[in-house]
Amino acid sequence: MTDSHTIQKEEPTPQSRDKKRMLSGIQPSGDLHIGNYLGAIKNWADRVDEYECYYFMADMHTITVRQEPAELRKRSLNQLAQYIACGLDPQKNVLFLQSHVSAHAQLAWVLNCYTMFGELTRMTQFKDKSSKYKENINAGLFTYPVLMAADILLYQPDYVPVGEDQKQHVELTRDIAQRFNSIYGDVFTVPEPFISSAGARIYGLTSPGDKMSKSDPNGCVFIMDEPDVIMRKFKRAVTDSDTDNPVRYDKEKKPGVANLMNIYSTLTGKKYDEIEKEFEGKGYGIFKPAVAETVIDALAPIREETVRLIKDKEYLDGVYRDGANRASYIANKTLRKVYKKVGFYQG
Ligand code: TYM
Repeated sequence: MTDSHTIQKEEPTPQSRDKKRMLSGIQPSGDLHIGNYLGAIKNWADRVDEYECYYFMADMHTITVRQEPAELRKRSLNQLAQYIACGLDPQKNVLFLQSHVSAHAQLAWVLNCYTMFGELTRMTQFKDKSSKYKENINAGLFTYPVLMAADILLYQPDYVPVGEDQKQHVELTRDIAQRFNSIYGDVFTVPEPFISSAGARIYGLTSPGDKMSKSDPNGCVFIMDEPDVIMRKFKRAVTDSDTDNPVRYDKEKKPGVANLMNIYSTLTGKKYDEIEKEFEGKGYGIFKPAVAETVIDALAPIREETVRLIKDKEYLDGVYRDGANRASYIANKTLRKVYKKVGFYQG
């Protein structure tokens, strides 16, 4: 498996590439949930043949919040199994672990010097996390978006497929790239955020005002949850007391129902008016279990395949090794160019 990939001799320029390039990552800071799946991974997997794809586990980002080292190691491998089980074939995508490619940290330092303090203070994720983890507002939490810009710009991608919450970081990445290019010429491709309308923001089942996140496990459906757990979580999903015509899409007045309809629509491909027709005259007692069943059916093969892959550590290690080689090749090329441009002596 690891030997089948032949490294390209010449990295094509963005203009001469056959396919547009995509890159994205997820932090292995917790188990993957359906927000990650519908907001990110499913969109990646659906586009495998159309784009040249680089996907990684952002383990370096996770330590901005304290991690249990053994757990982080375990999740980093499990997350790779989950990526593959979600349909990201390592033959067709470059799958790698961020800390295996040293160019990420190296470029991040350079970009730190091209990012403004004021820009970083405006990042909503920094504001959220620094109020949540008051006892550990470290510099990494503040400069997190610069590492993310390095993650992206190293690979010269055209698109960065993310959920809506990461859009601000991708926009900052564009600003940094444009600033750098305006000084040194066209060094970086300026990437576009790629936010699919379906699944862009999945909300918590118990708090439909907040994005689904592992910090609220009752309102969060994990990819590895057993069917009975998924059913229970959906049956307890917060809706409203509307009995006249309950299943209709109204994001403002019925956020809980809108969220369930979004999940159902993203998985079945049905439009909101079709879903409204399907459940006309039916109450939440019918609708919620129907959404749960759809999620259970979608996740069952992913869960089974993940369980199978996790047992094959040798295979997963091989995928990581191969991914690191392929990623480093591209990343180091960009890094060398940047080092030269900023004036680092290369001999
Ligand atoms: P992270 O790890 O928080 O989330 C990974 C991806 O899942 C999406 N997502 C959601 N989408 C819809 N609804 C939700 N409730 C939901 N929760 C999460 C996120 O938008 C994201 O696409 N900083 C990034 C990781 C990262 C990265 C990168 C991404 C590091 N470097 C470079 C792209 C490119 C993060 O914390 O995502």
